[in-house]
Amino acid sequence: MSIINKNPMSFLTYDDSRMLVSAKDRKSVQRRLIAAHKRLELLRTTDEQGFFELPFDVESLRAVEKLARNVQAKFEHMIVVGIGGSDLGARTIWHALGEKKMSLAFVSNPDPETLYHVLATTDWTRTAINVISKSGTTLETMAIFMTLREALIKAVGVAAHREHIVATTDPSDLSTLYQIAMEEGYAILPHPLNVGGRFSVLSVVGLFPAAASGVNVRKLLAGAATVEAERRANMTESVPARFAANQFLSMEKGRDIHVLMPYADLLHEFGLWYRQLWAESLGKVRDGESIGPTPIAAYGAIDQHSQIQLYNEGPDNKTVTFVEVESFRRNLRVPKVWGNKQGIGYVGGLSFADILHAERGGTEHALASHGRPSGTITIPKITEESLGALFMMFETATAYMGELLQVNAFDQPGVEAGKKEARRILSKG
Ligand code: PA5
Repeated sequence: MSIINKNPMSFLTYDDSRMLVSAKDRKSVQRRLIAAHKRLELLRTTDEQGFFELPFDVESLRAVEKLARNVQAKFEHMIVVGIGGSDLGARTIWHALGEKKMSLAFVSNPDPETLYHVLATTDWTRTAINVISKSGTTLETMAIFMTLREALIKAVGVAAHREHIVATTDPSDLSTLYQIAMEEGYAILPHPLNVGGRFSVLSVVGLFPAAASGVNVRKLLAGAATVEAERRANMTESVPARFAANQFLSMEKGRDIHVLMPYADLLHEFGLWYRQLWAESLGKVRDGESIGPTPIAAYGAIDQHSQIQLYNEGPDNKTVTFVEVESFRRNLRVPKVWGNKQGIGYVGGLSFADILHAERGGTEHALASHGRPSGTITIPKITEESLGALFMMFETATAYMGELLQVNAFDQPGVEAGKKEARRILSKG
């Protein structure tokens, strides 16, 4: 079994022994992987891509912690407004770890029914708003922010409303949100220019809402730092490099659908975060040809009763990556009843953690017996450190994958095109 990165200091291991990638396959991609590593190191050391350095950015960390303390002292609740990369990372942290020093709500979709509910139920005297938009012009975010801000002003007055708002945006006049925040006197957290939205979870974008809710963001960064240090030290055998190589080689064999399947409710949003990262970074036009893997966010054991039939017996065009949580923060046992009942006699007395582990193991085994590849990322527990490690692992794996596929993982012309078109349609009326 090829479990790599079994380092006692690490918060994540990767078992790819069932990925159906041979030593010969691996050798065939070695040179490209070395070139990918060198190019990523160039992007890092020239500061062209800033996300590699985020785990070590002490200055932003301090700014985040200070502002979080201020906001916690004044308010009990915070509404986070943003979309895509300006939403999914913070949302993932909140769902996995939210400590509830402040409660958070995420409003992302311009759905009038959701907004109606938010407006009807918010006590503005106790509520802050963190509006997040790198560009400062995103339709959904700005429409929602304008609406919430107006309700806030009605409730607390123009002068007082300023205290309630934190704007996270590109600190330049290119961002309309920045201009507004400067005019109004809102607190501003600068979105790093060299970090794209979907790579921004470990920047002020994800860290501020996390810190406000009481998450220990230092530990989150410490976990991410272990993965990044390991990546820098190992040209082709770090977890992210190896993961990308496996997915790339699988794509060459026609397996271009990539399923991420955590076995934990608290990591469900992590799958949605990964889905955006993988899709927006890797679905691109290369030399006139449209290419890219399709990510699927599944989760166990729920999707064993929804998706696994397809993964086992449907087209052989997928890889599955499980995320296994070794030990749960809380566990309990099924009561020992109905021991003599047909079909369920064995259930009484089982621990729920053991049920989930067995189900994941069973699914892995079933996939293997159908000749379908899978890999498993294991974290010891859902903690700040392991979540930070997971974020960093998938961000850097995406960067390797972009290099292997020879696409720019850091732009999103397809998203920009959609934004432009919506603007054109709505500006007409
Ligand atoms: O990853 C990306 O770049 C996008 O998903 C953006 O995060 C998303 O479109 C929101 O953009 P902005 O932060 O400019 O409002």
